[in-house]
Amino acid sequence: MDATIYNVNMETLTDRQTSPLQGQRILLGISGGIAAYKTVDLARKLAQAGTQVRCVLTEGATHFVSATALQAVTGVAVRHSLWDEAAEAAMSHIELARWADTLLIAPATADVMARLAHGMANDLLTTLVLATQAKICIAPAMNGQMWRHAATQANLGLLQQRGIEVLMPESGSLACGEVDTGRMPEPASIVDWLAGLAVPPLWQGKKVLITAGPTVEDIDPVRFIANRSSGKMGYALAQAAREMGAEVCLISGPTQLTPPTGVTFVAVRSAREMFDAVQAHFVGTDLMLAAAAVADYRVEQIAEQKLKKQGEQSLTLTLVQNPDIVAWAAAQPNRGKVIAFAAETENLITHAQAKLQRKGVDAVLANSVADGAGFDQAQNQLFLVSTQGVHEFPLTHKSYLAQQVLSHLASTYS
Ligand code: C5P
Repeated sequence: MDATIYNVNMETLTDRQTSPLQGQRILLGISGGIAAYKTVDLARKLAQAGTQVRCVLTEGATHFVSATALQAVTGVAVRHSLWDEAAEAAMSHIELARWADTLLIAPATADVMARLAHGMANDLLTTLVLATQAKICIAPAMNGQMWRHAATQANLGLLQQRGIEVLMPESGSLACGEVDTGRMPEPASIVDWLAGLAVPPLWQGKKVLITAGPTVEDIDPVRFIANRSSGKMGYALAQAAREMGAEVCLISGPTQLTPPTGVTFVAVRSAREMFDAVQAHFVGTDLMLAAAAVADYRVEQIAEQKLKKQGEQSLTLTLVQNPDIVAWAAAQPNRGKVIAFAAETENLITHAQAKLQRKGVDAVLANSVADGAGFDQAQNQLFLVSTQGVHEFPLTHKSYLAQQVLSHLASTYS
């Protein structure tokens, strides 16, 4: 099986119309590591997700990021001292601590982690940590050796025991020139992580299998038959299921999307490869969402060499049927719920009802693709068709739609 990870055109799912972070008050604490330079973008992305953001810098952070830039993207003055009389008069540090729903420290240096672990309150940020009842989340970032040091790891353990949420640093090239563990994840990933913490864990402990994207059926080494599918709906479902606590396996044909973090990702090309992957991962699945646009036919014999034009003659390709993956899943004994998708250009509900019977699935999620709607769009509208009737999910951003679909399915099926 082709195990390529498709990693082209970073596309984030966090610019959602309605994020689970919508309306949250986030106190962004920034400590003095080089990753602090990314926090202007982080503050901007948090604001785009519908949050109110206020920033607090440690003394060290002021050397890495400009308070003016942070103020420009958040629209509020940045705090960095306990002894700023004007700022304290406008909103005291205790009021600031009470204001926050979430206190996010990104980057959290080894020094800040040590001070938090020991309950110190020797600057504004650490004082706020002690004075707040908000959820505390940290994204540690530092040199790899400092991260692995027994003192840092012991502090990390203490902070986790106290219920502080930790976004682990990533491996990659560090500012010190080494390739090691210690990088702060990109702002988009931090926002996704926070959004995940804000979503109710409706699928906790459940296994969700999702097929997404098109399949590609080769004709010869340079030509293929494929379906129009961006994969956006399937990837949004995978991200939402993961955010709701599920163990997610995403099996995808070639797309331009970056797989959501925290899911088992299997890249495939053809329908038969997708079928093999589904068979390999199906056992124990509680919910399968077959969002892939699987090619119904493949070329009987893939040409080993590029096909050449034969004068004026037309070319005849013999196509044979691909296995119906979702019908196979629906026919398995003792299975979880299996849901197919239907993209139709006309008679949407009637065709979906026929598909429900024909494939033996529990429900069909139908969307209209008349006049190009649905394809490669950021938004979508879906109808859940089952023997219980039809439930409409109105037109909205695919990532928010995915959350609505999974919430609805959780209340119906689990
Ligand atoms: O049969 P049709 O393509 O109209 O049905 C669409 C639904 O069936 C989608 O859920 C799609 O993922 C699934 N399907 C499949 N295997 C196929 C064809 C479609 O799983 N070979």
